[in-house]
Amino acid sequence: MEIKIRNMVKKFNGVTAINDISLEVIEGEMLALLGSSGCGKTTLLRTIAGLIHQDCGEIYFNNMEVSDWPAQKRNAAMVFQNYALFPHMNVSENIAYGLKIRKTEKKEIEKKVAEVLEKVKLIGFGKRKIQELSGGQKQRVALARSLVIEPDILLFDEPLSNLDEKLRVSMRQEIRRIQKDTNITSVYVTHDQREALSIADRIVVMDSGKICQIGTPEEIYYRPANLFTADFMGHLNVFSCGIIEENGERYYELFGKKIPIENRGKSIKILLRPEEIDISKNGVDALILDIEPFGSVSRYKLKCKNDIIYADFINRRRVGSFKVNDYIKIDFDVSAIHVIEGEL
Ligand SMILES: Nc1ncnc2c1ncn2[C@@H]1O[C@H](COP(=O)(O)OP(=O)(O)OP(=O)(O)O)[C@@H](O)[C@H]1O
Ligand SMILES: [Mg+2]
Repeated sequence: MEIKIRNMVKKFNGVTAINDISLEVIEGEMLALLGSSGCGKTTLLRTIAGLIHQDCGEIYFNNMEVSDWPAQKRNAAMVFQNYALFPHMNVSENIAYGLKIRKTEKKEIEKKVAEVLEKVKLIGFGKRKIQELSGGQKQRVALARSLVIEPDILLFDEPLSNLDEKLRVSMRQEIRRIQKDTNITSVYVTHDQREALSIADRIVVMDSGKICQIGTPEEIYYRPANLFTADFMGHLNVFSCGIIEENGERYYELFGKKIPIENRGKSIKILLRPEEIDISKNGVDALILDIEPFGSVSRYKLKCKNDIIYADFINRRRVGSFKVNDYIKIDFDVSAIHVIEGEL
């Protein structure tokens, strides 16, 4: 199912939750809606589900306008953060619920429940009570309950927020696998950049009810279109650069390196990710102001000329011996930088 949203607006008592959003979800893709709290992610998801009616704009499923369709006609399934399972029913009964209210035959229900239990790796859990399950298992049941009705669209609203870090990582791989296997068009709301980068085919970065950028994880991470996206995706090193003119040559300069102007405007920002910085004998001097260890990597806060720059170095013995107040020499490859035009 392909989803098209055109000029969607939704206000709550004068607060604009969605401010003229247009986007497409391609058939079979997993699209992540990424943004900070209150930016309108859940509202957009609920308008797709038909649980909220938009003030303006249209929604199309496979080019058919569904803007005024009630939720039950849309064949979309939602997966929530708090699982929303029925506590008085066991696992199988929870999963079967949607089929029962659709008056599916008993034999057919049993077959479908067994199939979906296998899909979410819960074979043998059918008779368990909900309170006897771990958080990850509950979320699998919630996913199974959504899948069993064979929806055209899967809508996830921060489904993994209640799980610990390790389980979150394994569950998101699981969701990704199941989504790819079933090929159900999906929209996945999250405020976690890493989750969006790892789970989505494309990411929509949102801010204050608007779209900042739509792109593949690679585009969003390496080639943010604007400073909001860059900042949100964790670009720590942003440098303002003006044009240098010398002996008839024009270029930008960053730590002694010449950066070609190409067709860019007068004023730009240069983005350089911490992991793109190397330690090199031919580099420029940098004073270590701080070292923050993250296990396999440490983040170094460095002073280089008059700039502060952050660099991530893998903790091998070679760098493990550096201390605050040491001088090191750093370098980067010009091809690693990303340039954004315009003022801060
Ligand atoms: N039912 C409602 N009544 C009034 N205001 C609402 C309602 N639902 C959402 N809002 C407001 O609309 C804006 C967007 O809310 P929304 O829930 O879509 O954000 P979100 O991106 O999902 O945030 P979070 O990450 O915290 O879940 C917020 O300012 C919120 O307070
Ligand atoms: Mg939300």
